[in-house]
Amino acid sequence: MKTVSLTIDGRKISAPRGEKLLWAALGSGIYIPNLCALRDNPEPAAGCRLCFVEVAGKNEPVTACTEVVAEGMVVNTRGTAALRLARTAFELLMSSCAADCAHCAKNRRCELQKIARHLGMKLKSKRFRELRRELPIDRSSPVFIYDPNKCVLCGRCVWVCREQLGIGAIGFAYRGFRRVVTTFGGEPVADSSCRGCGDCVSVCPTGALVFKDGKKPEKQKMEDSLSAASVTANLKTRFIGRRVLYYPRLTSTMEAAKKEAGGGAAEGTVIIAGEQTRGKGRIKRTWLSPPGNISLSIILYPDISHLPSLIMLASLAVARSLRKVTGLEAQIKWPNDVLINGRKVCGILIETDIRGKRVDHSTIGIGINVNFMPSYFPEVSSSATSLADELGRSVSRLDIIRQLLVETERLYLALRAGESIYEKWRDNLVTLGRRVYVKSGEATLEGIAESVTPDGSLLLRRPDGSLARIVAGDVTLRDRT
Ligand code: BTN
Repeated sequence: MKTVSLTIDGRKISAPRGEKLLWAALGSGIYIPNLCALRDNPEPAAGCRLCFVEVAGKNEPVTACTEVVAEGMVVNTRGTAALRLARTAFELLMSSCAADCAHCAKNRRCELQKIARHLGMKLKSKRFRELRRELPIDRSSPVFIYDPNKCVLCGRCVWVCREQLGIGAIGFAYRGFRRVVTTFGGEPVADSSCRGCGDCVSVCPTGALVFKDGKKPEKQKMEDSLSAASVTANLKTRFIGRRVLYYPRLTSTMEAAKKEAGGGAAEGTVIIAGEQTRGKGRIKRTWLSPPGNISLSIILYPDISHLPSLIMLASLAVARSLRKVTGLEAQIKWPNDVLINGRKVCGILIETDIRGKRVDHSTIGIGINVNFMPSYFPEVSSSATSLADELGRSVSRLDIIRQLLVETERLYLALRAGESIYEKWRDNLVTLGRRVYVKSGEATLEGIAESVTPDGSLLLRRPDGSLARIVAGDVTLRDRT
């Protein structure tokens, strides 16, 4: 490993090249106050503003959590300018944090006390007016107690829950003084997608999150109400969902389905994942699949002539199921995204293995945003929605899955009996008559989505009056409403 040598507070240390100054210092036993940084987070928020240090040659103090070590660097953690900034940040932070050390489970282990000592300050200064919030304490989790009044909004718990565990049960809500870490819709922790692992408690620097039993439970209660048995019990289908494989965590249900099909799995076998760590989207994109959402794949052995209809069938089955279970107006965007109020709630991926003129197997992969808060995921927050987000309450994944399997089988049997799915699918398309952009391969075409053909292609009326036939692509509706 390549290392660099630097000097911090007169001490010569070495650190791995590329290391952030904060970790280099802490690793050498030199304390720099910090709250929002976590060792595993490569992109710290640098939001707490406590880790200011002075680096020789730089005009302004810098945050040690973002500054990368360099050969010969000379650092002063106790410089006047850096301390002034850190002290002000601490005073502001403490003005909205309840400090009741004598009655706090974290007393003497609280990082705020350590920081105050290091900065030579009292926990509460007189400079800023105290802003008391008096938010309700959430004791609903079997594992921990959450007191938002003691939270300093460092974001460690949010990061761990979302990025390390891929759950996203908690996130930030509101802005300014009202800003708070909360579950989706502010529901009690016990009703959220929290699985009680307690990792958020372990990283909390204050008494905001404390274990009920004083320590992390050994056996974590990671149950999910979803199970193979709960899906198959009294399911009104002939073959789809008669065999269900449920995995709490998978890379992708598509991969598991491929293996199953390779081993001769019965038609209608369904693979469900509580969460996916590498969900696959169309056009080699990734698909976010945190717990609380639906991620499943259905194995089918269709006739080759039915392949174009599978896309139609799957999106239609999803739209119908969502309407039936939630009452929400689900629409299909060509070719097979399902939208609610103009935002994507479901993505469908169909993979088919063809041998000569015969279909070996097809897998319909369906991802539905159910109990998912798009605002926690900036990469999709403007384009995605979830059932819970639309309804303002959490929704049973089980109910949706069971309905979906029934609708899928109904349409598949109809298809096999010679009925056409095309007209039904076409009539559910939100795309037709709309001005759209279509990304197809490298090209992006603009025009009015005029119609669709029975094989599923989109007919696009170009500005020059010509009609383009698009077999596969990605549509953006120009006018959202
Ligand atoms: C899209 O890009 O819109 C399609 C997303 C498909 C996601 C589902 S989730 C279940 C199945 N497993 C995967 O890895 N992908 C599909």
